[in-house]
Amino acid sequence: MPPDVSVSAPAKIILFGEHAVVYGEPAIAVPVTALRAQVEIHPAEPGAGLVIESPKTRHRFVYHPEDDPEAQSTLEYVARLVLAHFGADPPDVTLHLASRIPIGRGLGSGAAVATAVARGLVGALGETIAPDALNSIIYEVEKRHHGTPSGIDNTVVVYEKPVFFVRGQPIEDVRVRAQFSLLVADTGYSTPTHVPVGDVRRLMERKPERTQQVVARIGEITRAAREALGAGQFKRLGDLMTENHDQLQRLTVSSIELDLLCDSALMAGAHGAKMSGGGRGGNMIALVDNHRVEPVMSALYAAGAERVIKTRVSAH
Ligand code: MEV
Repeated sequence: MPPDVSVSAPAKIILFGEHAVVYGEPAIAVPVTALRAQVEIHPAEPGAGLVIESPKTRHRFVYHPEDDPEAQSTLEYVARLVLAHFGADPPDVTLHLASRIPIGRGLGSGAAVATAVARGLVGALGETIAPDALNSIIYEVEKRHHGTPSGIDNTVVVYEKPVFFVRGQPIEDVRVRAQFSLLVADTGYSTPTHVPVGDVRRLMERKPERTQQVVARIGEITRAAREALGAGQFKRLGDLMTENHDQLQRLTVSSIELDLLCDSALMAGAHGAKMSGGGRGGNMIALVDNHRVEPVMSALYAAGAERVIKTRVSAH
């Protein structure tokens, strides 16, 4: 049966401020509109119930409202929160999930999948939901994975625009004066976000003064980056990215592979390079002029990147 409608949500990249954002400093993140999680809504026979299927992860289940929420999978939990929001019963519908976003690589796959499924269910109920309400739901889902997420992932994915994000405060827009290109290179392995986040917390407990200094410096870098984005100063933006990476190394969340990819991108002519997201694997990003895309991409592959994608951040 052809789908009634399909909905989606994008991947995200953190440009500046990951980890420091957990401690109240700002972070800047942008959506990756070309990489998406998509959900098709297929109406089903009466009595069929709410079915969610994801061939990529080999999941298919019928939603049972009476199940213990603690024992429910992430997608069941998304359904629970959306149904509770509307005080609705599960509709007879199949939500078919397909995502092109690599899982667990700092690209916001979890938030994007949850957002796409929530949008699919909202559509199947014949309802609409305000972005703020959807964002709160996805934040609740994120908490199940990360314990104490700052909320940046769900925010950039739900609103799908560049954001200057400070935990617990209303989101602020980021002005991007001119379009620019990023290469996003995957180390080929990942560590769950809560691991490096927990290690930074322990570092903060053991060496509070030094760690707080690093976190504060990342905050300064992020504020300076906002100015550079607004002024279209890409050389400066690149230098700030590279300095942000150095500070993340001091927080112990980089890795040999991430460092190697960053060094290789810089040597091949990138303006700047840094890890992005939780770290200890996952992705790094490099800011490149269009004429340097080919050599930087080749250098990243030669340095062991499993996959390199080019994404454009549009003027905003
Ligand atoms: C993860 O994408 C970003 C971190 O700053 C964690 C968070 O903000 O919750 C590492």
